[in-house]
Amino acid sequence: MTVRISQTADVQKFFEEASGFDNDQGSSRMKAVVHRVLSDSIKIIEDLQISPEEFWKAVNYFNELGSRQEAGLLVAGLGLEHYLDLLMDAEDEQAGHVGGTPRTIEGPLYVAGAPLSKHEARLDDGQDPGTVLFMQGQVRDIDGKPLAGAIVDVWHANTGGTYSYFDASQSDFNLRRRIETDAEGRYRFRSIVPSGYGCPPDGPTQQLLNQLGRHGQRPAHVHFFISAPGHRHLTTQINLAGDQYLHDDFAYATRDELIAEIHFIEDPQQAAARGVSERFAEINFDFTLQPTAELNAQQRAQRVRAQEV
Ligand SMILES: [Fe+2]
Repeated sequence: MTVRISQTADVQKFFEEASGFDNDQGSSRMKAVVHRVLSDSIKIIEDLQISPEEFWKAVNYFNELGSRQEAGLLVAGLGLEHYLDLLMDAEDEQAGHVGGTPRTIEGPLYVAGAPLSKHEARLDDGQDPGTVLFMQGQVRDIDGKPLAGAIVDVWHANTGGTYSYFDASQSDFNLRRRIETDAEGRYRFRSIVPSGYGCPPDGPTQQLLNQLGRHGQRPAHVHFFISAPGHRHLTTQINLAGDQYLHDDFAYATRDELIAEIHFIEDPQQAAARGVSERFAEINFDFTLQPTAELNAQQRAQRVRAQEV
């Protein structure tokens, strides 16, 4: 028979003290959150009869997660980051903020401060022999008006599925740029076709996914922050049509409106016209931003990021 003590007055008082309820220092918000975490944790221990061995395994897991910097990956893999999108979508719907390109998860691999250029950029440093990709599109408001001077902040993985900064073998800001749209709201860039991302196979995220019988793969994708004065900041990404993981993304980022067709062009004349010597790829994708007068909503959500200023 299960022994339960979490509801006794002594244990409740004990965790109220552990949460700092008996002092007037610190943060009342943090106290409330920690108290809830502790109260729910001891209920879980009792409900699921978590053994001390399992408890200490979990403690060690947190240590491993932190030492490998994978907490951001785990929250994506467990669907919590996608859940936040669903919650914000529901809040938006209730507030009447509808229309525009859907949001989807940022993931943990953005690096702030990528080089800024006007209208166009080349994202790759020429070291990765991937298929050349030309991507272009227009940023508009929900009435279809082009947004000149919008910032398209783009980042993606290389052909090995890894990101510069986190993969020290790549040059600084490789496959990361900020592009200001032209008078017609257009942006364009040259890069290479990215590969899908996979969780580090020996890392704690994949270790847990294995226990859930799940893979840790993402389809090939390109991340974007799109911003413009007077408009809501958009965090989104496109996932490439045809990828085997398009509808089986371990991070649940694929949304129907965010699937981008990728066209591979074999014609040598078209390649020559583009200044490349072989088969290349092309993606066209437009973004639509919702209006807002709120300055906060025009900025990206605050969180700790690499090189954030
Ligand atoms: Fe990514």
